[in-house]
Amino acid sequence: MKSDNILKQRADRVWLTEAACDLDDFRAEVERTTQLSDYPHAAAVEKNVLIYEGASVLKAAASGEGRRAVLAEICEAFATGPGVVVLKRGFEDISVIDAASGIFDEIINEQHRTHTGGGDHFARPGANDRIWNSLEKHCLRNPENFAAYYGNALIALVSEAWLGPSYQMTAQVNRVNPGGAAQSAHRDYHLGFQTSAVIEQFPAHVHRLSPVLTLQGAVAHCDMPLESGPTLFLPYSQTYVPGYLALKRPEFRAYFDRNHIQLPLSKGDLVFFNPALFHAAGTNRSQDIKRVANLLQVSSAFGRAMETVNREKMSATLYPALKAMLADGRLSGAQAACAIASCAEGYSFPTNLDRDPPVGGLAPKTQAQLMQEALAGGWEAAAFTAALVAQSDKKLS
Ligand SMILES: [Fe+2]
Repeated sequence: MKSDNILKQRADRVWLTEAACDLDDFRAEVERTTQLSDYPHAAAVEKNVLIYEGASVLKAAASGEGRRAVLAEICEAFATGPGVVVLKRGFEDISVIDAASGIFDEIINEQHRTHTGGGDHFARPGANDRIWNSLEKHCLRNPENFAAYYGNALIALVSEAWLGPSYQMTAQVNRVNPGGAAQSAHRDYHLGFQTSAVIEQFPAHVHRLSPVLTLQGAVAHCDMPLESGPTLFLPYSQTYVPGYLALKRPEFRAYFDRNHIQLPLSKGDLVFFNPALFHAAGTNRSQDIKRVANLLQVSSAFGRAMETVNREKMSATLYPALKAMLADGRLSGAQAACAIASCAEGYSFPTNLDRDPPVGGLAPKTQAQLMQEALAGGWEAAAFTAALVAQSDKKLS
C-alpha cells in the first residue's frame, strides 16, 4: 500500500538506527583527498589534515575582510573538509605555556595529595591525570597567566569560526603517562556521550545539530612525537550523519583502526576538530614523555556546556589582573577581549526579563559586556565585583 511506503520512508529519514549504518556509504564520504588549493590560507596538507601557520593566519585575519575569509575557510574545513586543523606555533610566547604547565602540575600534585580529582571516564586509574574544569582552576590560581594564555587570538578566531561569537569556553587538562593506553574511537559531546538506545530517540536533525553546538581543541603543552600517542583522527568522518550510531558497530571500529592518521605535534601547537570527527587518544609508548594537553571544549552560546563553570567568580578574580596588565602594557586590548571571551558569560540568556530588561535592543547586557564596560571606565575591583553580583541576582527568577 502506498501509505505504508510513505510511513517507511519517513521513518527512515527521521529515525537513524545503528542497524541501518552502512560501511560503503561511510567510505564514500570519508575516502577523499584534501586539496591544498581549496584552502588558500593553509600552509600544507599532511596525512589529509590541513596545517596552518599561526602567525600567517593572524596576519591574513588582520583586516575585516580578511578575517571573514579566514573564518569562512576554517568553518568549511570543519564542516565539509577534513574536520580537523592544526595551527603550528599557536602561541607567540612559549613561556606562557610553560608557566601554565607549572600551574597544572601543582593542581595535579594537590589532587594526588588530597585524593581529590574525579578520574577519567576513558582510562584506568593511574594511567593518566585529569584536571576537570582546568579553566576555572587556572583562572582562580593565577589570573595573570590565565589572561596571557586565553588572550590567544587564534583560539578566539577558531572558536568564532565554528560557533560564532559569545561562545562558552571550558577546558580540561589530560596528562597521559608512559604506558597510558589508547582510547577507543568515539565522537564527542553531546550525542557522542550517549548510548545507541538514547541516540536513536533523537530525530535526524538533532544528529546534524550536535556537532555545531561544540568545538573540540587542544593546546600541546609538550612536544608530542608519534610514540607519545597524539590523537588518532579519521578525516572526513564527521560528514557521515549516522556516525554517532555507526561507531558502536565493529566494522566501523575496524575501519577506524586501519585508516586513522596521527600527526606529531610541537609544544605550542593547537589542534581543533569537529566534535563529530571519529578520534581517539593514542597509546603512549614512550619511556619518559608525560603527554600533556589542555583540551578545550568550546560550546555555542545556544548550547549547554558539559561542565559547570563559575564565571562570576572567575570574572571577579580576572578583572584586577586584566586591569593591571593593560595598564603596564603586558596585554593589548585585543588580547584582553579574547581572555574575557574565555572567562565571562558572553550571552544574555536565560534571564529574568522582569528584572533584567534589555536596554537599547532585545538582549540584556552580558557579563562580558559588563567587564568591558568596567575596564573602559577604570572601575575599582570592588565596584566591579558588586556589579557582577547585582547582575547575577537580576537574572534569577
Ligand atoms: Fe574525544
